[in-house]
Amino acid sequence: MSEQIDLGNIHIKEFDPQNFSKDEWQLFHTFRKIKHEETDPDDPIADDESVEKSLHMLSKHPEANVNLFVIVDNTNNKIIGRMMHLIFHETSASYNENKHLMQFDLSLLANYRRKGIGTMAMKKIYDYALKQDKSVLISSTDEDDGKAFLKSLGAQTALSGVENRLKVEKIDWNMVEQWHKEGYERSPEARIELYYTISQEIIEEYCKIYTETLNQQPLGELDVGKIVFTPEMIRYNEKNTAELGRKHLTYMSIESNGDISGFTEMMYNPEKETMIVQLLTGVKIEYRGRGLGKWLKTAMLLKMREEFPQVNVVTTGNATTNAPMLSINDRLGFEVHKEGISAQMSLEKLGEYLLKIEK
Ligand SMILES: CC(C)(COP(=O)(O)OP(=O)(O)OC[C@H]1O[C@@H](n2cnc3c(N)ncnc32)[C@H](O)[C@@H]1OP(=O)(O)O)[C@@H](O)C(=O)NCCC(=O)NCCS
Repeated sequence: MSEQIDLGNIHIKEFDPQNFSKDEWQLFHTFRKIKHEETDPDDPIADDESVEKSLHMLSKHPEANVNLFVIVDNTNNKIIGRMMHLIFHETSASYNENKHLMQFDLSLLANYRRKGIGTMAMKKIYDYALKQDKSVLISSTDEDDGKAFLKSLGAQTALSGVENRLKVEKIDWNMVEQWHKEGYERSPEARIELYYTISQEIIEEYCKIYTETLNQQPLGELDVGKIVFTPEMIRYNEKNTAELGRKHLTYMSIESNGDISGFTEMMYNPEKETMIVQLLTGVKIEYRGRGLGKWLKTAMLLKMREEFPQVNVVTTGNATTNAPMLSINDRLGFEVHKEGISAQMSLEKLGEYLLKIEK
């Protein structure tokens, strides 16, 4: 579509999943299916019901204030984009070190780009951030248009990342079994255990190692403070996982003194039955260099093969500077699928940009 768009007909409307009508949901699903075809046509797509449930959950997040918007073309009543911004609640354990921060996400169908709609959305984002006294804005994307847009706003690329994918047919299972065996041989005093929900006796300690290693991940230039993982968050995530019919698997390595020395987690979503997501892997500093990362990850792959034989792709996200994780992933056969960035800018700089283009 190359015709001009009258921005007066474009409406950015806050959307509360609790109050969305059936017809509005239909318009939303039409939008996200077109978007999926544009960006990930070869990947499985989530079904309508679970998308609705997930957005309900997101809008009631216990740690963060999440505002969702749809971008509507009033000439044909179509949803042509969406927008989201997120700030931590004052009651969140992560608030103290992140009270300056607002994350946002913005996405338009391809036909509606380069017509000023993104800039229009940024004005709304700016006004909200100003009202909430936020000084730093962060957004992530793996699309070229998004990267160029963020650059033109004056945002700096603060972290580069990749979505890595492993084709199951390419896995060298002999190597996987070998690493698994070596893991045990190098740490005969330790054991590994699998959890689908985290048991009450270890939840506090698990939150400590999770928080510690999560915050040790390379964050580049991102001005992000400590993110604190709490038992309440774990229980909240577990409840959502169960409601969505998903499975969250965690392997932990436990030392003879009872310490949790490491963990790795995967999420399986039955709607995307051929794909599984490898989430965080963390080993405490004092236990590194003993092959625990390899042991945990190969235990998980062996479990995946047994429990989800229909899975043919493992997907995971890595910072491009995360050498230890990339070293394990490269040898397992992960390959770059998409290259992404997290960009950040000060509110002041965004304000100057918006003022300049208004003139
Ligand atoms: C990001 C996005 C919403 C931008 O929306 P948009 O309506 O096209 O943005 P605008 O028309 O307001 O663009 C403003 C300026 O950004 C720059 N820009 C935007 N897209 C660009 C591109 N593909 N290449 C070069 N510059 C670009 C230009 O300077 C543009 O002004 P100009 O067209 O007058 O030259 C859209 O590209 C998109 O949906 N991308 C996919 C999702 C995404 O990656 N989001 C980024 C995270 S927020």
